[in-house]
Amino acid sequence: MSKTTDGIAPHGGQLINRIATAAEREEFLEQSDRLPRVQLDDRATSDLVMIAIGGFSPLNGFMEQADYEKVVDDMRLVDGTVWSIPITLSVSEEVAEPLSEGDWVRLDDPKGKFIGVLELTQKYRYNKAHESVKVYGTDEIKHPGVKVVYEQGLINLAGPVWLLERDPHPLFPTYQIDPAASREKFQKKGWKTVVGFQTRNPIHRAHEYIQKCALEIVDGLFLHPLVGATKSDDIPADVRMRCYEIMLDNYFPSERVILAINPSAMRYAGPREAIFHALVRKNYGCTHFIVGRDHAGVGDYYGTYDAQKIFDQFEPEELGIVPMKFEHAFYCKRTQQMATNKSSPSTPEDRIHLSGTKVREMLRRGELPPPEFSRPEVAAELAKAMQSS
Ligand code: ADX
Repeated sequence: MSKTTDGIAPHGGQLINRIATAAEREEFLEQSDRLPRVQLDDRATSDLVMIAIGGFSPLNGFMEQADYEKVVDDMRLVDGTVWSIPITLSVSEEVAEPLSEGDWVRLDDPKGKFIGVLELTQKYRYNKAHESVKVYGTDEIKHPGVKVVYEQGLINLAGPVWLLERDPHPLFPTYQIDPAASREKFQKKGWKTVVGFQTRNPIHRAHEYIQKCALEIVDGLFLHPLVGATKSDDIPADVRMRCYEIMLDNYFPSERVILAINPSAMRYAGPREAIFHALVRKNYGCTHFIVGRDHAGVGDYYGTYDAQKIFDQFEPEELGIVPMKFEHAFYCKRTQQMATNKSSPSTPEDRIHLSGTKVREMLRRGELPPPEFSRPEVAAELAKAMQSS
């Protein structure tokens, strides 16, 4: 694993910073009324932010065709760097038509606020079915990631971007810790090894168990819940963050854990997204990354451990972050503790595990999930949120 003075090397070697300098910002603002405009959706907005803060290093903009095609087909950028998810700005033909390569394009957020600039180097058509099958393993429109691909425009706009300003997150300003800052924090704490944890669900005891197993091995835990766009039946980010605060106050050694938000949108691309999630956490300075059961999966699209197996397709040094793989964890009634098949003699009848759907149904009926599944304070917080929604 290669190291820099601030810890593990970012993906591609250098942490990208595409936040406009004061002089650039002034120039962009001065020209803003004359520039052609493109309005971003939530996902493209979070992608712009992730590029700008270095979370998607080595990307410095939305992908050109050659990179896009290589990523879709081979999980690599043209220069050979591993990259598993296309990062594209897709617009309709009407929006693309008046734009010319070489233009500077003003990027507005979904509310119409000027937030960035694209130097348009290329516009190109792409094949939605091909992208869907390669990246998501299906072109069924009921897959939430594929649905986004089919709903977006037919033309990709590509080129380097600038974010006008890095605004504090409206809901979680203190947890907005960008890659340069997380790297600095890890250094200050003297952590040589840090494990990243991706999540889009409220924390339950299986999550806690695998996080703590990892914490027994490495110096620090970087809890990095995703707060960008998720599908509508996922639990909202503010509720999930409150559950994390409860856990840190009551159940974790707080000096060994950093909680921070990941602004990205979920893709639900299972194995491909697991690689992507790991590379993003490498950019935040993590040396290790947790991959449990059905990581970033949805429905029955992926095998339970496909997201772990995909790591074997790459050499460890081309990833530069170590996956920590965990089997399906559950509460074992026989040994009265959290366990997996690897550590417990239990039969299925001895095990308590609830699916996310099951938990949501219980909460809707006003029932609390049992303490073997969820810490009681977390269960109460979820119930409160469900009742007020
Ligand atoms: S995800 O879409 O972000 O992967 P989730 O928040 O449920 O969904 O999972 C976060 C991480 O915990 C993932 O690495 C996932 O594989 C892992 N995980 C979730 N539940 C379990 C479980 N019961 N046993 C083992 N790993 C799990």
